[in-house]
Amino acid sequence: MQLAPEAQRFSIADLEALSDSANTLLESLRTKMLEPHPRKKAPTFSGGQVAALCGIEATQVPYLAKRGDLPEGSVEGRGKRRVFTLAETREWVAKLSKRPRRPEGARAATIAVVNFKGGSTKTTTTFNLAQGETLLGRRVLLVDLDPQGSATTLTGMLPAAEVFEEHTVGPITYPPLSEAPKDLRYAVQSTYWDGLDIIPAAPHLFNAEIFLPIHSRDPDIHWWSLLDKAIDPLRDEYDVIIFDTAPALSYLAVNAVIAADGLLMPIPPDNLDYASSVAFWSLLSETLGSLKTHRKIEKDFAFMRVLLSRVDSTSVSASIVKDWIIRTYGPYVLTTEIPRSQVSGVGAVQFGTVFDISKYEGAAKTYAKIRDAFDTLVELIDQSIMSTVWGLK
Ligand SMILES: Nc1ncnc2c1ncn2[C@@H]1O[C@H](COP(=O)(O)OP(=O)(O)O)[C@@H](O)[C@H]1O
Ligand SMILES: [Mg+2]
Repeated sequence: MQLAPEAQRFSIADLEALSDSANTLLESLRTKMLEPHPRKKAPTFSGGQVAALCGIEATQVPYLAKRGDLPEGSVEGRGKRRVFTLAETREWVAKLSKRPRRPEGARAATIAVVNFKGGSTKTTTTFNLAQGETLLGRRVLLVDLDPQGSATTLTGMLPAAEVFEEHTVGPITYPPLSEAPKDLRYAVQSTYWDGLDIIPAAPHLFNAEIFLPIHSRDPDIHWWSLLDKAIDPLRDEYDVIIFDTAPALSYLAVNAVIAADGLLMPIPPDNLDYASSVAFWSLLSETLGSLKTHRKIEKDFAFMRVLLSRVDSTSVSASIVKDWIIRTYGPYVLTTEIPRSQVSGVGAVQFGTVFDISKYEGAAKTYAKIRDAFDTLVELIDQSIMSTVWGLK
């Protein structure tokens, strides 16, 4: 396209103006980037919410808060509403909830959230599941294995500017492996969310996808279990460890699958997402089959679940694809589904999740619908963890 003649001219004065405005913008971005941590804030909880999480009556909260052995919270506003921080809420849950704890000697349940396609809600599912598990009283570690660092971004960090190679899982794959770290505790960071720690990701993590294929040519190197081995010391420190993977069966994703007790695959009922999910299982079975034949590796999982996600209940094509998914994955499909919701869409723009919201500006029903769906997802996965990984009940 031909530019208008005036747009082709670019004088020194224009250059100076452009340079000034670009620098001003960059400066303000940089100032924002360097804001002190934590940039994100966890929500507060009402007495009613704390009671619901503890499985007690809301009317018991004021009395219990004064008894002295539980955090009192603070009294806010003219209505004298009692509010609790997330840390206080988790203390209440830890003391009062009847939910079985991780048994003595049992180790963290590890879950890999997988699917081929970008945009299939892996990161959203991972992060909400992680937050939801902490509200059940669990200690959770999220391991971001996607060099794009989307899950890392949801903690309020800026992957490209603030996460360095040594903060990621990358170094466990760097040659020579004899000198590579063998214990991922070096990379764990706490987050704005009490009970949720993260091993972040950043673009440098692509290096792991360069080194792992090189290792895979060496018959003496167990390239598939580097993550499994390095995460091992952390299995005593957490109840649940969740791996968010890149949209590919990358070498790191294979490591996550090998390290995982359970697999969780979110699938939005869209024909491309459905097709990618089928392709994922073919490639995974090929990869695990080849590891079995050539390296004598046997791998099975405590559980595998498929989550219908971002479901648009008004769309005819979604309901058709939903049927295909149910026909394909039958018993593995979870009995709850996550609706498509503007709460999740808007949240993503603000680097937030459904669990981050303490007060939704829109209709309460809209929020309740997606929040209930995530609460049920968390409950179902927690039950799978308790029964299949920890052998409870
Ligand atoms: N239930 C939902 N309703 C509406 N939008 C959603 C929902 N869940 C996820 N999204 C949006 O879909 C997009 C892709 O999700 P994401 O979790 O980043 O996928 P992935 O990690 O698989 O690439 C994001 O913009 C996210 O905000
Ligand atoms: Mg993602």
